[in-house]
Amino acid sequence: MRLTNKVAIVTGAGRGLGKGIALKLAREGAKVVIGDAVERNAHEVAEEIVKVGGSAVAACADVSKRIEVEAMFAAAAAFGPIDILVNNAGINRDGMLHKMSDEAWDKVIAVNLTGAFYCLRLAAQQMRERGYGRIVNIASMSWLGNFGQANYAASKAGIVGLTKTAARELAKKGVTVNAICPGFIDTEMTRGVPQNVWDAMVGKIWAGRVGTPEDVGNVVAFLASDEAAYVTGEVINVSGGMVL
Ligand code: NAI
Repeated sequence: MRLTNKVAIVTGAGRGLGKGIALKLAREGAKVVIGDAVERNAHEVAEEIVKVGGSAVAACADVSKRIEVEAMFAAAAAFGPIDILVNNAGINRDGMLHKMSDEAWDKVIAVNLTGAFYCLRLAAQQMRERGYGRIVNIASMSWLGNFGQANYAASKAGIVGLTKTAARELAKKGVTVNAICPGFIDTEMTRGVPQNVWDAMVGKIWAGRVGTPEDVGNVVAFLASDEAAYVTGEVINVSGGMVL
């Protein structure tokens, strides 16, 4: 129980990676705000945590809307000041650059990058005042560029830049900011890929299997703990050795 009574916000926690992260933080004793744009999923995850004796509350919030992010932070205040923020909400709208619509570009940047910024800005204001905080941003190995993912790669490269800037600005205030780049993780986002792509991806993973939300949640829990006080501005791959 490394996170007893810490207050955490996890965005996009209604399913997939975010859900795995939220469950892990709750198991470590954190009181977790389950943020998601899909209200029903957020409530289900919060109920799942409460049923086993944990603390959680659902907050329906689309991170690309500043007002909804502010409301999510206000809901978190019921638990107390925020100790941990996990910026996980993310989407993809893949397609070749030369055919990419404005809508596909704008939407991915709005959710993945601007959404993370809205959350980070509020967290930074509160955490620097208290002199404590742990921020973990979920990026992707695609931040280095990926075929068919111009919008997604740009948003995730933006997340890395945001992480390294926030880490510098907040380090002396007791706040760490790190990014995790999951490799190929079994969630609804990846289950949509054709079988041949799935097989090719698994073939690249030295661990010989796809990752699970728990694999990512375990690393988030460490970065969110007091033990990680001297780790900041890092970009950590959690990929079973996909790129070595
Ligand atoms: P997912 O699609 O299974 O789940 C995403 C969750 O975010 C959903 O619950 C969805 O309702 C929520 N969400 C979407 N837009 C939102 C918004 N505007 N505001 C609030 N919540 C919103 O995706 P998955 O796989 O769990 O991905 C989570 C994060 O991990 C994303 O940032 C993604 O880019 C990143 N990632 C995932 C990888 C994978 O292999 N699954 C690999 C690398 C990064």
